[in-house]
Amino acid sequence: MENLSRRRVLTLGAALGLTSVALEAPSVWSWSSAGSIAHADTVTDPFQVWDPAAEQVAAQLLADGSIPAVNAAWNSWRLNRDPLPAGMPAYLTSYLQQVNKLPTWADPAKLAKAQALYKRLSGYLFISESLGSGFLSTVIPREARSVYWSAGGANMQDRAAKTFTFGYDLHNEKAFDPTGSFITTANKTRLVHAMVRKLLPLSPHFQATADQPLPISNGDILVTFHSVATVAYNNLEKWGVRTTASEEVADLHAWQVALSLLGVQDQFIPQTWADAKAQAQQMLWPRVAPTAEGNDLAQKLLDAVKGLGTDLSTGFVSEMVRYLIGDTYWSWLGLPTDLISRALIKVNWPIYVAFREGSTLIVPSSFNLFDGFVRGISMMYLNNGASATQTPITLPSANRPG
Ligand code: HEM
Repeated sequence: MENLSRRRVLTLGAALGLTSVALEAPSVWSWSSAGSIAHADTVTDPFQVWDPAAEQVAAQLLADGSIPAVNAAWNSWRLNRDPLPAGMPAYLTSYLQQVNKLPTWADPAKLAKAQALYKRLSGYLFISESLGSGFLSTVIPREARSVYWSAGGANMQDRAAKTFTFGYDLHNEKAFDPTGSFITTANKTRLVHAMVRKLLPLSPHFQATADQPLPISNGDILVTFHSVATVAYNNLEKWGVRTTASEEVADLHAWQVALSLLGVQDQFIPQTWADAKAQAQQMLWPRVAPTAEGNDLAQKLLDAVKGLGTDLSTGFVSEMVRYLIGDTYWSWLGLPTDLISRALIKVNWPIYVAFREGSTLIVPSSFNLFDGFVRGISMMYLNNGASATQTPITLPSANRPG
């Protein structure tokens, strides 16, 4: 099922408006780092690169049983300006002292511009990322299987809430400021991924389908980046949401910093959106396919989104997912059909966006429905629809039981 024919991949990419060059799963990695922020004209396969510095720390935490103490200590480590908490082993403190900061090439002016842009566009981004990219992740086999067989796969509501914490902290008007939380959140996430690399190889269920020595390589993180950020970039363009050239540069810069904080090497981080799109053609679209694990997660994710506080019908949410990820991927997931919502979304969402963006005076008949929807999804990021605080990211100490 994962061996997509070139013709099928082209059709799928075209359905999402993403195919400007031929798509084909390359047998040999060929994206040159000339298109990266490292500017070096080398070709290294990012699917063969992991994160040894973080993995060494994860291995020690597992070996000395400090994970519960670290999770407790992390409760008081939320804001970028928070000092590293007491109660962590010295080797973890020492590692975090080295990585818990912006990369030297980060440009404060661009980050400030990204923060202002996110303040304006976060509603659209949350829709694209939760209902678009969230479900897209279930048709990326390596991600679907990793998530399914890790501890979080057994509780999608909690897992979705933790992932929303990352999105909320990034698309926040203070994200990179001392009073923002993104640098801290990204560092926690990097260590969660390192821990997963130690744990999943111990899962016989995961091992039955594993096709690489360790999960979550730099290449896999970039695949997810494209399924989130490059897809959101395309959606904003498709929906006629106006952004200036410098805002687009700032958006990418925020993501370049995010990727670096997640442990992706500079040689793989795309320099421009054109480079990002070229990279996505090579690494994302040829890799999508349905899996049993992904389909199960998609159903659970639909329930989780409903459970996180939106009062929209399951049919509406499912059809919004279809609108965002396209008929083909949606049909793989076996989500419920709602013909009335489908027609309504197709006709009225573009008018709603055009009206909000001031490019039409026509008020869509379902303005209130969509406005409530955007607010509901945004609230879900803000407080997970239930509690007044975000769900903290914690280190897992085991895999999903059988
Ligand atoms: C955990 C974000 C890429 C697999 C997390 C968490 C966040 C996150 C915020 C912590 C929440 C939680 O524990 O559930 C991201 C971002 C990525 C990315 C922003 C790329 C831009 C990937 C990839 C994979 C992956 C490529 C697998 C191929 C996992 C797994 C967990 C996790 C298995 C742990 C779930 C658990 O606790 O059991 N990720 N992730 N992630 N991520 Fe990622």
